[in-house]
Amino acid sequence: MARDVALSQALLYARELKAVYEATREREHALSAAYRRLRSQHQQTLRYAEDLRRLYGRAERAILQSLHGLANALEAKDPYTHGHSQRVAGLARRLALAAGLPAASARVVAQAGLLHDIGKIGVPESILLKPGPLSEGEWVIMRSHPGLGARIVAPLEFFADGASVIRHHHERVDGSGYPDGLRRDAIPLGARIVAVADVYDALTSDRPYRRRFSSREAVAQIEGGAGQALDPGLVGTFLTLLRHGQPDPAL
Ligand SMILES: [Fe+2]
Repeated sequence: MARDVALSQALLYARELKAVYEATREREHALSAAYRRLRSQHQQTLRYAEDLRRLYGRAERAILQSLHGLANALEAKDPYTHGHSQRVAGLARRLALAAGLPAASARVVAQAGLLHDIGKIGVPESILLKPGPLSEGEWVIMRSHPGLGARIVAPLEFFADGASVIRHHHERVDGSGYPDGLRRDAIPLGARIVAVADVYDALTSDRPYRRRFSSREAVAQIEGGAGQALDPGLVGTFLTLLRHGQPDPAL
């Protein structure tokens, strides 16, 4: 009798165990199906994010391209500045990398170098192309181009750093530049980099009022400007770049 009870309890126990086992197996199946679903949704989300990133990058490039077109159209009016923005961009990119900026930041500095004078669109040709010295009133208009350029690119949220480079590319480290009279490190690093590239390229290009300087004369001028107009540390890095061969202005 006691043996029958023990047997039926054992059977009952075995049936319960089996039921628990089956329920666990079912849960496991359901869990792994849910996991598979989650995984494929996650992969789908990653694909969407990648597509979005690509589309966003394409839109950014298209916007910047059209601005470059505008900058080129501006340069085309003036034979003296032809190719200036491209060369400044190339020099600025190399200087940015040599100064230790990461590649993405160097790219923004180069883009800003391409567009640094875009605000000259708002300066009349009679001033831009004037062969003689500018009057005080004409200088006031000429000095408005960095601020105007920054306003032109201001709606491009992804290019906020570039806008600040454009705004400050005529600041001088001694505080006597424009538009804000910033000093030393208060001037954004990208703007100090573009300033060195801009001054070097301007010195080594013909201008309506003077012939181009030789590389050696330009280096002497730049060294003279270190600490007053230009960041002395960046000038040192730039001169090292020059000594290691003519910097390739190609982007
Ligand atoms: Fe400028």
